[in-house]
Amino acid sequence: MERSMRVVKGRASGAGRSSCLRQGRVVGVGCGRRLRALHDRHEDHERRRRGSPDQEAEAELTPGTLEEFLRRVEGKPVSGSSPRDPHLVHLVGTGPGDPELLTLKAVRLMKQADVVLYDRLISAEILEYVNEDCLMIYVGKERGLHTRSQGEIHELLYRFCTSGKTVVRLKGGDPYVFGRGGEELEYLQERGVEVRCVPGITAASGISSSLGIPLTHRGVADNVQFITGHLRGEFTSAKLKELAQKVAYENTTVVIYMGLNSLPQMSRELMDNGMDPGTAAVAVERGTMANQRTVFAPLESLSGMVEDAQLESPTLIVVGNVVTLSPTWQGHRGASSGERPSTAAEEQKEGEGRRRLREVK
Ligand SMILES: C[S@@+](CC[C@H](N)C(=O)[O-])C[C@H]1O[C@@H](n2cnc3c(N)ncnc32)[C@H](O)[C@@H]1O
Repeated sequence: MERSMRVVKGRASGAGRSSCLRQGRVVGVGCGRRLRALHDRHEDHERRRRGSPDQEAEAELTPGTLEEFLRRVEGKPVSGSSPRDPHLVHLVGTGPGDPELLTLKAVRLMKQADVVLYDRLISAEILEYVNEDCLMIYVGKERGLHTRSQGEIHELLYRFCTSGKTVVRLKGGDPYVFGRGGEELEYLQERGVEVRCVPGITAASGISSSLGIPLTHRGVADNVQFITGHLRGEFTSAKLKELAQKVAYENTTVVIYMGLNSLPQMSRELMDNGMDPGTAAVAVERGTMANQRTVFAPLESLSGMVEDAQLESPTLIVVGNVVTLSPTWQGHRGASSGERPSTAAEEQKEGEGRRRLREVK
């Protein structure tokens, strides 16, 4: 493996740790390197984007030191209480971000793990459930930044699990919904490794439910499409055309993952292919988390409003008449989470949307 891995190990404990959490960043004695890395992740992200990595916050593990580390952990007794098959990896979904949406199984495995590999979407609050002796390896992929290849992640999982450790691979949402969990499953199974998956609440259902948007609703939407916003040429255009027709004629709710950058193109394609420009929609940044932001708007103005609000990743987009059922849509008259009032044109569109909704009920 040519690239280096960022490894963060050890944690602050007790009161120091809680106080660090309350402050949202690490200050003072007792707050370890790992916590600092976790709580300052967004700042790290910005620093790295500017090309000046904070060397103290990130311990780099080069291929040579990775080998050395593996040799060292091989000799260590495993944590947890029961003997287990050494060739086992747990793929664990952590839900959309609110730690209270974790499953009991996810928490148990985080407490038992010897090694945890985690993604960018896993919040610091969730990582707090990982036991203190666990080795934590950040393998997030970040757009436009130096990222870990999927091949590197596969190899790490394989190397750690064959060294007899309890390996937990944490993934945001559900591991098998746009999470590349299926690729990890295939790679490991081909090499004789057992993979056990703990399902997580996927962003679509966690976020829409928490906003009071039923993904299906009698008479309004009887099916849901989860699609990726990563555009792939003709295939995507054809798919969008098909989708637009479905939404128009079959009462479909469309949920777009990873659609922030392609939102202008996607909404244009959807409208060009028959989707009503007045269809209610919402973009949700960091859904279910304390710093969640939302932009509610008719499809035709969503992209502009999202740009004005400067929403960032992770953002989920939900398009469909079910969005008008949200108390937020109704409370804000179809505009947004208080960032911008609706325009007269939008209010008119919204009125039309409501009428359509009443008609189909
Ligand atoms: C690589 S996909 C992972 C999806 C994940 N496996 C799931 O089941 O939710 C990442 C995308 O999921 C969406 N997403 C995940 N968590 C989110 C959150 N808390 N708020 C908004 N969008 C989220 C965003 O569209 C983001 O770009």
